[in-house]
Amino acid sequence: MTSSRPRVFSAMQPTADSLHLGNYLGALRQWVALQDTHDAIYSVVDLHALTVAPEPEALRRRSRVTAAQYLAAGVDPERSLLFLQSHVPEHAELAWLLSCLTGFGEASRMTQFKDKSARVGAEATNVGLFTYPVLMAADILLYNTDLVPVGEDQKQHLELSRNLAQRLNSRYATEDSPLVTVPEPYIVKETAKIYDLADPGSKMSKSGHPSGLIELLDDPKTVATRIKSAVTDADTVIAFDPVNKPGVSNLLSIHSALSGVPVEQLVADFDGKMYGHLKVAVVEVVENALGPVRERVTELLARPEELDEILADGAGKARAIARTTLARVYDAVGLVPAR
Ligand code: TRP
Repeated sequence: MTSSRPRVFSAMQPTADSLHLGNYLGALRQWVALQDTHDAIYSVVDLHALTVAPEPEALRRRSRVTAAQYLAAGVDPERSLLFLQSHVPEHAELAWLLSCLTGFGEASRMTQFKDKSARVGAEATNVGLFTYPVLMAADILLYNTDLVPVGEDQKQHLELSRNLAQRLNSRYATEDSPLVTVPEPYIVKETAKIYDLADPGSKMSKSGHPSGLIELLDDPKTVATRIKSAVTDADTVIAFDPVNKPGVSNLLSIHSALSGVPVEQLVADFDGKMYGHLKVAVVEVVENALGPVRERVTELLARPEELDEILADGAGKARAIARTTLARVYDAVGLVPAR
């Protein structure tokens, strides 16, 4: 890794057996592209996943499957670091220190926590869920991250990371040598927003309709069935109009994002054709994109030692960076160095 390039850090939680098309287009594909221009560090944040009390076997399986999907999509361990968060204990250590710098009120204002506790009831939440954004800040600040690719839903959390970085620097660092880098959000503009196939009014998400989801590891038949039963409208005109024709527009977006053909071109190509034609084309484009990813994941999971080796190597390199940052921060706040 060359240190002259800006550094990017991002992560996903291992909370599902497969990533879905929204994760792929909205995140993973950008991560892969960023490797050409940035020092990239990507993590599977398994400690974050503990906030939802997963079944142990499921957590173990999903952690490996998530890492395998990063690799299959093109995260390249020769150029980038890929590791499981729990393999680098400095994440939990810096999180404690940062939690002592986070106001209780400040953490209470995080809308993701507020929404979740409103949904399940405050009694059903846990302290980990409350301090989740602080652990996320630790993930980012340990690596002197310049840019963090995140979705809209994580912007407030990233704002907290920035505030904590600034607070650390202003309390404990000298002006000419800051302790940590203040990270910038990286919101990819041209990212197509992908909606639920069964309910094109809401974002594609694993908590949405099962039949509205396209998962990376779904078998091709399931994917085809879901696309063919995607909600459209009573009209018959293929046009891009997200307000009045959300279902058809979503199919056009998916096609365009994966085929690279501009939406206007698609609309022209499908002029006078039926929704069924568009759906058949979308099935093909999706399979062309996801088929190779699915195959590569299967290969990787068939050789778990190799996958674990890649993760161990990534963790070793990540740890070398994290250890240096943590030592510098520990020293600056007045902790006596261990000998
Ligand atoms: N909170 C993020 C999400 O749910 C996952 C995450 C954890 C993350 N740590 C991170 C994302 C650090 C970017 C950087 O999507």
